[in-house]
Amino acid sequence: MNLEKIINNPKMPKHIAFIIDGNGRWAKKRGLPRSLGHKAGFDNLKKQTEFVQELGIKTLSMYCFSKENWNRPKQEVDYLMQLFDQMLDEYKKDYLAKDVKIVISGDMEDERIPSSVRQKAKELMALTKDRQGFVINACINYGGRQEIIKAVNEIIDEGLKNIDDRIFEQHLYTKDLLPLDFIIRTSGEQRTSNFLPWQATYSEWHFPKTYWPSFSKKDLIKALKIYMKRNRRFGAIKG
Ligand code: IPE
Ligand code: IPE
Ligand code: MG
Repeated sequence: MNLEKIINNPKMPKHIAFIIDGNGRWAKKRGLPRSLGHKAGFDNLKKQTEFVQELGIKTLSMYCFSKENWNRPKQEVDYLMQLFDQMLDEYKKDYLAKDVKIVISGDMEDERIPSSVRQKAKELMALTKDRQGFVINACINYGGRQEIIKAVNEIIDEGLKNIDDRIFEQHLYTKDLLPLDFIIRTSGEQRTSNFLPWQATYSEWHFPKTYWPSFSKKDLIKALKIYMKRNRRFGAIKG
């Protein structure tokens, strides 16, 4: 794969996101329990994260667990929480000594989340908050509507009036992140499922049919090529 040409393309996105969907169906197709689908999904997420960084993309957001995912069987939720715990340990091991900033977007005060996960998330965010390099934004216990309501409540508490976009954004989990250019949702579902609604107003979307654990580096390159062919107009016309 000739990556140079891709990396040096001026139309490359700076901030991309993965909605990692299809872990369960990937497992079912193979006669495996859903947990093994999640395991394969999180192994792939690690691989893809490294690749995204290699491609020179500055920020990667990923949807790992939605507010609505609490409605799944306890056993599955517990397994996912265990995977997040491991993921945060790996982040610490792999990224603490490097110029990588970790943001966890989502409600980390929620006591349904194991305290070790909440603590590790807060610690990593605090330790990496001033970094300028690659940014990983993991959305865990995230809901877009809840994020907006949280921002509104903070603004009311601060007694602010006549706010603008910029002030509103300062109250979102993503406050220091670059604009979200491109969102890839695997598995063929074509919906947002409460993912970054404010941030995605002008993002480009792509819905490959592949289940997330099978989504390969080649698939990502293909997606990026599709993105780079698009004409982002932001409501304007060429003068
Ligand atoms: C991953 O895929 C999503 C989460 C990590 C919650 P799913 O678990 O939603 O897989 P499908 O959609 O059932 O196949
Ligand atoms: C969206 O996937 C949430 C995550 C990827 C974490 P879901 O599988 O939960 O979404 P729906 O239920 O198909 O909308
Ligand atoms: Mg799903």
